[in-house]
Amino acid sequence: MPSQYDKRTLLWVYPERMSMCASPDKPLLSAAMGQQPSRYPAWFLRQAGRYLPEYQEIRKNLDFLDLCRNAEKAAEVTLQPLRRFDLDAAIIFSDILIPPAHMGMTLTFDKGHGPVLSHPVRSASDLKRLRLPDWEKDAPHTGQAITETLKGLTASQTMIGFAGAPFTVASYMIEGSGSRTFSEVKKLLFSEPQVFTGLLSMLAETTFEYLKMQVRAGAQALMLFDTWAGQLFAGDYRKYVVPTTEVLIRELQSLSVPLIYYSGQGGENLHEISSLQLDVVAVDWRTPMNRALSVLKDIGSPFKCIQGNMDPLLLSWGTEAAVRAAVRRIKAEASAAPAHIFNVGHGLLPTTSPKLLQIALDELRSPS
Ligand code: CP3
Repeated sequence: MPSQYDKRTLLWVYPERMSMCASPDKPLLSAAMGQQPSRYPAWFLRQAGRYLPEYQEIRKNLDFLDLCRNAEKAAEVTLQPLRRFDLDAAIIFSDILIPPAHMGMTLTFDKGHGPVLSHPVRSASDLKRLRLPDWEKDAPHTGQAITETLKGLTASQTMIGFAGAPFTVASYMIEGSGSRTFSEVKKLLFSEPQVFTGLLSMLAETTFEYLKMQVRAGAQALMLFDTWAGQLFAGDYRKYVVPTTEVLIRELQSLSVPLIYYSGQGGENLHEISSLQLDVVAVDWRTPMNRALSVLKDIGSPFKCIQGNMDPLLLSWGTEAAVRAAVRRIKAEASAAPAHIFNVGHGLLPTTSPKLLQIALDELRSPS
């Protein structure tokens, strides 16, 4: 348990781990606070995973969910990309669908079919069946994995905890799997909006507790993934989703760590997030950074930093010249931001070339 919070370094002070995590010079944290970092901070969404042979090696003997629930192995795969590449952050190895798996639903990952959640939430009685987990008791593994990962980080690297935003997690809980049309989500929203918003509220409550546990365990920044935010009409998103997200974000501020918010699928709903107290806005690969910046400024967002946003498939199929050109373009587009954290605009895919990822980092840090 941390004994106190240091407002200057934005870190919980764990006396026994001071030398490992309390450093005033973490480039990612400086940028997230809108300050000039000592170097250009960079990390990659889903930087741990199947494109790394060392990850495949561990996965050979361990199912994905068992890996998420094994603190020691989860810490190991979290650190794998940092051993290969000079990155500024580790993101804890887990998944946004772990919370529903502890709220009474059964989560499975079928090979080639993505995630499946049993008994989707489609009525008031389905909603009543769900329960709020006691994270420390029911699922301490993510916190333990964070504490374990911290031991392998240098003083300049930042430990990021994460969760799915209520709307994106609710989408999986309502559809029961991934979806192309989000038909069940819209059926519930349009026919029983109070059940829909009830589910979002329940998720906001448990997501706060889940992320609080991660900060207690040592997370120094948090990221919320609203991957499917762009699936709703912007007005519906503002009316039915933003109010609950806003409550969650206000509560998360009490944890005093920077918050990175990712709004997936296009820049349109950036217009809807003006009321959210976001430190870092992560932009998906569809929207040019300069366009995202002008929207954020127009709407008066209090953001301090922007994150993103290379198309991850460029790191699978791009030429070296195309990767270098994209890095230079993104740097130029983001130069009007108070600060920028370089990243991809969506998770890395199994086809990612480690060689191209290294080239992107070299280009980012080469003196221009
Ligand atoms: O390295 C990291 O970034 C941390 C780990 C992480 C994973 N998932 C591991 C994972 C993070 C941050 C996520 C977030 C996540 N999970 C999102 C939001 C971000 C995004 O990418 O859109 C979503 C929508 C999910 C849900 C999810 N998890 C799907 C749809 C799938 C199946 C698709 C796929 O890529 O296989 C997963 C599985 C998953 N989550 C894997 C990993 C490494 C692949 C598991 C494996 O077979 O080894």
